[in-house]
Amino acid sequence: MAHQWRGIIEEYRDRLPVTDATPVVTLREGGTPLVRSERLSAETGCEVWLKFEGANPTGSFKDRGMTLAISKALEEGSRAVVCASTGNTSASAAAYAAKAGLTPVVLLPAGKVALGKLAQALVHGAHLVQVEGNFDEALGVARVLSERYPVTLVNSVNPFRLEGQKTLAFEVCDALGRAPDYHLVPVGNAGNISSHWMGYREYLRDGVIAEPPRLFGFQAAGAAPIVRGAPVAHPQTIATAIRIGNPASWEKAVAAATESEGAILAVTDREILSAYRRVAADGLFAELASAASVAGLLQLSAAGRLDPGATVVCVLTGHGLKEPDWAIAGAAEPQVLPADAAAVAAALGLGDGA
Ligand code: F0G
Repeated sequence: MAHQWRGIIEEYRDRLPVTDATPVVTLREGGTPLVRSERLSAETGCEVWLKFEGANPTGSFKDRGMTLAISKALEEGSRAVVCASTGNTSASAAAYAAKAGLTPVVLLPAGKVALGKLAQALVHGAHLVQVEGNFDEALGVARVLSERYPVTLVNSVNPFRLEGQKTLAFEVCDALGRAPDYHLVPVGNAGNISSHWMGYREYLRDGVIAEPPRLFGFQAAGAAPIVRGAPVAHPQTIATAIRIGNPASWEKAVAAATESEGAILAVTDREILSAYRRVAADGLFAELASAASVAGLLQLSAAGRLDPGATVVCVLTGHGLKEPDWAIAGAAEPQVLPADAAAVAAALGLGDGA
């Protein structure tokens, strides 16, 4: 068989908590594109790279953690897994559980999950419950279920999730031949930024990189508990993936930012939407929450906080197709014309033709 990327467990096996006895459940996640943005580089005076996690099998970075969490759940004899989710975790859990033959139970905050993500959980056969409450409340329920009933919790409080997600940092360093100077990532439940710091620290410890990047995490302004220093009871943002008021990995995320001399900052919904369009203009369709990293880039750049010429990686965490309504809402109504080339050419202003 021709060579293909084997998935993060096989590609980074010696850096992950697996043994020969671990049944590897993979959809060949990871190995995602790291794309240089000429426009964002020109605008910021930096070398800007976009790590497109929308290219994972279920369209988000969650697959990196889920391959490991589900493999370990299977190894430990689990029959069912549970998660609370703003959508992407549930899509990923449902897909990997289906592959493994496990039963996925997903708890979603009622009415606040993008349609594409709902469709993913359903098509893979998840037991889907809409909880009357927000993500934080749904996570509370999921935790209790996993403590009192025979179901394994696969939210990012499951340590295998972060172990898998740290591979993003490895891929970035392997691709660039060094660590970036700045690593920018959206923050919701705060697992991802924590995992990336684990990855960079590991490469630093082993001498694979000489310097770690500075990590900057971006919360949506209406859902920015870490920035405010207190939980937000009713988080609000158009970026539903990161609509989280009391992140489970709060301390780890603060440690990642502090130890790396970065910060956790807030971006407004307006900045997120604008960055979403900027990324799309570069050919990448990322979801709103993902664009928080690029919104953060533009904010840091405008404030003069980036060293000129620095290498910056912005993580685009999920695929825009999950919430197509935002793309359509921002565009003009398409014209309806007769199936006639002359009529279409006239409407497009293409001139008289040959
Ligand atoms: N971007 C996207 C597209 C996400 O789905 C999430 C989290 C994040 C960023 C934030 O990552 O939570 O590790 O800080 N989504 C979770 C979910 C909460 O349920 O799908 P984080």
